[in-house]
Amino acid sequence: MTMALAVLAAGPAWHVAAAPPSAPLIGINYFAGWWTGPGDKWKEPWNTSVDWRPLYPGRVPLIGQYTTEQSTMDGDIVAASSAGVDFFSILWYDNYPCGHRAPGSGHLNDGLSLFMSSKEAHRMQFMIEWCIALPLFGVHSDMEWQRMVRDDWLPAFKHQSYLRVGGALVFKVHSGPAFKVNSSASDAVVSARLDFLRRLVRNAGLGEMIIGAGSTITDTSDPAEWWGFSYNFTNDYAGVLHDDPKWAGRVLPWRNESAFVREWRRKQARAAAQANPRRTWTRQKGTTRQRRK
Ligand SMILES: *[C@@H]1O[C@H](CO)[C@@H](O)[C@H](O)[C@H]1NC(C)=O
Ligand SMILES: *[C@@H]1O[C@H](CO)[C@@H](O)[C@H](O)[C@H]1NC(C)=O
Ligand SMILES: *[C@@H]1O[C@H](CO)[C@@H](O)[C@H](O)[C@H]1NC(C)=O
Ligand SMILES: *[C@@H]1O[C@H](CO)[C@@H](O)[C@H](O)[C@H]1NC(C)=O
Repeated sequence: MTMALAVLAAGPAWHVAAAPPSAPLIGINYFAGWWTGPGDKWKEPWNTSVDWRPLYPGRVPLIGQYTTEQSTMDGDIVAASSAGVDFFSILWYDNYPCGHRAPGSGHLNDGLSLFMSSKEAHRMQFMIEWCIALPLFGVHSDMEWQRMVRDDWLPAFKHQSYLRVGGALVFKVHSGPAFKVNSSASDAVVSARLDFLRRLVRNAGLGEMIIGAGSTITDTSDPAEWWGFSYNFTNDYAGVLHDDPKWAGRVLPWRNESAFVREWRRKQARAAAQANPRRTWTRQKGTTRQRRK
């Protein structure tokens, strides 16, 4: 699992049947990037012949080093749930049509299947964070989108531990701006895809959905205006500094990373308080403003 923390607070905007929880739910992103063989994340990103475990022995998990193994997932669930974590937001990657868009990348989705098959699954909840990561992991077509919804996500939504808030299933698009770019920068395409998802879930008798989207912490564009869809929640990711070869082998203090996050959260707040004509990076001719809140 990764250290990124996601907090879903129960807000008054959720109009669903059951009462929202009385306390914030605490979640952690689950990234299943740890296998043996090409593409595994035990190697330095900038030099994949170097295994970084001897450089940072204190960061090698005792529970299990490989997220391709059921015992690792079982241990992760027990550790997280007993420390007060309510859910994993499991990163899921579109590997269609070949099953492996990058070396070993089929293993990335083991996180979802191993959670679902875990005998410990009753201890906590999980949700899918569809990890659109361009240029490698976008969706090629509407047909491929529909296939993911039907064959991969719908079975997960039926699992008894799938996260519901106020009765609604929670789902996140990892990057709202990337999804829009990958949908030919068309709000209509983004909406058609997400509306299809809602409709299929509703027709399957699974109820309503809370659909959110994220963006990098340094993106200060206005989600309501430029991300192409009226998402139920938006948030940030990748608030990590110095992912850089020159820091290899050096353990920076955690406060160093949190200083970076605090700095960008201040910038996010300032940007949100301002009128937004200067925020243009996903802007395209013909985008509608009707979704602006
Ligand atoms: C989520 O957003 C949709 C579309 O804007 C809206 O119809 C729905 O009521 C929202 N769901 C919740 C739980 O707020
Ligand atoms: C990668 O690391 C290996 C082993 O330390 C080293 O021999 C090689 O020169 C490195 N390659 C690059 C491109 O830095
Ligand atoms: C979306 O992503 C896929 C795969 O990453 C890519 O092949 C395709 O060209 C992208 N489509 C658009 C419109 O950007
Ligand atoms: C984090 O530490 C590095 C190395 O000391 C420094 O260059 C950088 O400015 C620090 N960043 C923050 C946000 O404190």
